[in-house]
Amino acid sequence: MIPHQVTLVDVGPRDGLQNEKQQVDAAHKVELIHLLQAAGLREIEVTSFVSPKWVPQMSDNAQVMAGIARRVGVRYSVLTPNMQGFEAALPLKPDEIVVFGAASEAFSQRNINCSIEQSVERFRPVVAAAHAHGIKARAAISCALGCPYQGEVSPDEVERVVVLMKAIGVDHCGVADTIGVGTPKRAQAAMERALKHYPLAEVSGHFHDTYGQALANIYACLEMGLSHFDASIAGLGGCPYAKGATGNVATEDVLFMLNGLGIETGIDIERLVDAAAFISEVLGRKPVSRSGNALLAKRGAAT
Ligand code: HMG
Ligand code: MG
Repeated sequence: MIPHQVTLVDVGPRDGLQNEKQQVDAAHKVELIHLLQAAGLREIEVTSFVSPKWVPQMSDNAQVMAGIARRVGVRYSVLTPNMQGFEAALPLKPDEIVVFGAASEAFSQRNINCSIEQSVERFRPVVAAAHAHGIKARAAISCALGCPYQGEVSPDEVERVVVLMKAIGVDHCGVADTIGVGTPKRAQAAMERALKHYPLAEVSGHFHDTYGQALANIYACLEMGLSHFDASIAGLGGCPYAKGATGNVATEDVLFMLNGLGIETGIDIERLVDAAAFISEVLGRKPVSRSGNALLAKRGAAT
């Protein structure tokens, strides 16, 4: 079942930089996106159109979107939790919008200030408007493998949200382990529920690496035939509403594993490491990525 080709979505500019205490200049965000596309990334989650009071780090959303020298064949996505966000994003021509719900009620309240059902009602017109403008609509389902407030989250709870997302016409379903507590069998159990309602090509995994399980979870998903994963350059990230959650699995680590498995991604690992080195220098710290750091050390040893 393991696919020959995998698509990686780099969510670092959004999921990564939304969690930084220091404000990163829009120009640096744009440069990071340019380095990611130069490395061969074909899907990049650029920013989010959310309340600047809730997430000030993303308040430069329009500036970042407008600053990108777009490449043909690259899909630029943005998060839009409501019509206000969608209307702000639309003039900037995203290729894909992301509505983000949760499998746990408690997380839905803390993250987007409403219940799961209310959130889906808010997403309904967003998805319809996106489609009316020829824009793809993806959903992220947070806390699919565990919640910082509720604790355990069952596959039934995941499936309930998948069904709601499907009913409002969402095209692609992203299953997210927001706090990185999932382990391979649990990841597979959640994915199985998504796959009851979406085809393989329209289900993806988004694994935070808080407990070091993300690569194992991705491998478990590969065994099911999944070929679409989010990852974050230099392992940046977390969620401001999931305290202690660290970044997504580093794109460099996922790529190193996929290269070793002989799976095509179209991404050049050395150029990816350049992107990781760039953003890490901007942030003044080392990448979290094991492979990224190993490759950087090798470069250092060679010079
Ligand atoms: P709310 O306060 O319930 O919204 O926030 P409201 O409609 O009552 O509006 C209140 C104020 O927010 C008003 O401003 C609105 O104009 C403004 P005021 O009159 O007070 O000055 N507002 C907005 N401003 C800009 N853009 C908007 C927008 N909407 C309202 N779109 C809302 C609801 C969803 C906006 C808020 O809760 C919010 O922004 N939350 C932030 C959520 C967030 O960004 N979380 C992190 C991303 S999700 C994530 O990281 C998980 C993921 O990676 C997957 C995983 O790992 O699980 C995707
Ligand atoms: Mg996330």
